[in-house]
Amino acid sequence: MNNLKHNTSLGIDFGTSNSAVGVAVNGKPFLFDIEDGEKTLPTSLFFDNKSKQALYGRKANNALVNRDEGRYLRALKSVLGTSLMHERRYLMGKSVTFVDVIAQFLTEIKERAENAADRSFDHALSGRPVFFHSDNDKKNAQAHADLEACYLKAGFKSVSFMAEPEAAAIANGGIEVGQKALIVDIGGGTSDFCLFEGTANGINVLANNGTRIGGTDFDKTLSIDHVMPLMGFGSDIKKDMGSGTLTAPNHIFHDLATWEKIPALYSNDSLRFADGLRNKAVNRQLFDRLMDVLELEYGHDIAFAVERAKIKTNEAAEAAIALDFIEPELGVPLNIDKLDTSLSDYASTISAAAAETVKSAELGSANIDKIIFVGGSSLMRIVKSSIAKQFPNTPILHADAFTAIIDGLAIAAESRN
Ligand SMILES: Nc1ncnc2c1ncn2[C@@H]1O[C@H](COP(=O)(O)OP(=O)(O)OP(=O)(O)O)[C@@H](O)[C@H]1O
Ligand SMILES: [Mg+2]
Repeated sequence: MNNLKHNTSLGIDFGTSNSAVGVAVNGKPFLFDIEDGEKTLPTSLFFDNKSKQALYGRKANNALVNRDEGRYLRALKSVLGTSLMHERRYLMGKSVTFVDVIAQFLTEIKERAENAADRSFDHALSGRPVFFHSDNDKKNAQAHADLEACYLKAGFKSVSFMAEPEAAAIANGGIEVGQKALIVDIGGGTSDFCLFEGTANGINVLANNGTRIGGTDFDKTLSIDHVMPLMGFGSDIKKDMGSGTLTAPNHIFHDLATWEKIPALYSNDSLRFADGLRNKAVNRQLFDRLMDVLELEYGHDIAFAVERAKIKTNEAAEAAIALDFIEPELGVPLNIDKLDTSLSDYASTISAAAAETVKSAELGSANIDKIIFVGGSSLMRIVKSSIAKQFPNTPILHADAFTAIIDGLAIAAESRN
């Protein structure tokens, strides 16, 4: 690492699900070991009530699995640009906002990179989705401002941003002059696209595009479709006045199925609300289960069970969503048909956004020489088949699903100095 220039920026891929940090050495990406020899760190934190310490990444995930006493947080990037970002909450006895929490996560990865490199990094080159929030310019701008504030709070003197799919294009830019390629990056929170062509001096970006759909949305919808009905979602409660029944309000189930909204449900208000539903329930057993899940704080355990079953069903055609931590033998069988039914609207929106990227550069699918898939959710079969329909004659290649973005950011960080 001695040949690292002193003013080098640190490349940072702050992902919804996974983060990574790196620099370039002689034009080649060098990713820092960020957790026990790993190049990526799950973007999760655990605030341990007993030790009053924050844990990060796999250690945070383990604390959740071990049912240590504390607060677990994941998918924080999805909160950027929303009002939740600036609400105060208590973590380990301190009143904080999500700006503080994300800044704390970024401080941790900055320090890990600095320890590994044995030098300090004052400047960051961060990835950002093309759109944090699709179809909402104000929220999108606010999310950018929020993330910038988090970097400055984490101790960086400055931060610049690059569209995540553009970073992946830089890392996969080995195409011939005049050839055109489309990066398709399907991550945890967003889907991002970059159309680029090979030039004599590297690559030329023709269009970027994106939509706010990622693997955490797949988890949410699978949970709503297959798990939340076991907790009372879609079932009937008695009307407050008069006779008859109506469907139970659904917001509590949506929040329970949404990674970043789960922690806010662990409150007396939510318990009171769920108890109120239970008292009016036609099928009380379902709402007993909802109360158990809220009281025992099983929200993230459900989300992980759904995510695991999603990945396994995608690979092996069927798997069960194992919920035996709630009740012995409780589980939901999943198969590829159910998976496709739940996710087909998302896949259509993603493939339409991919086609739109090409159209915005006044090109058609026949002009694209190859499609390069990156991001964990690009491994989902339904995404690939839906995109293949839009680009019937274009070869689809897979680059490194989890490190393509950080490779490109690391390379670009070197030339930003
Ligand atoms: N083998 C797999 N098959 C399908 N999906 C997977 C697989 N492995 C991980 N995923 C999903 O990929 C997502 C994480 O991908 P990735 O690490 O690329 O996202 P990210 O970069 O953190 O998010 P973003 O770029 O959207 O902010 C998760 O939703 C996860 O469930
Ligand atoms: Mg990503």
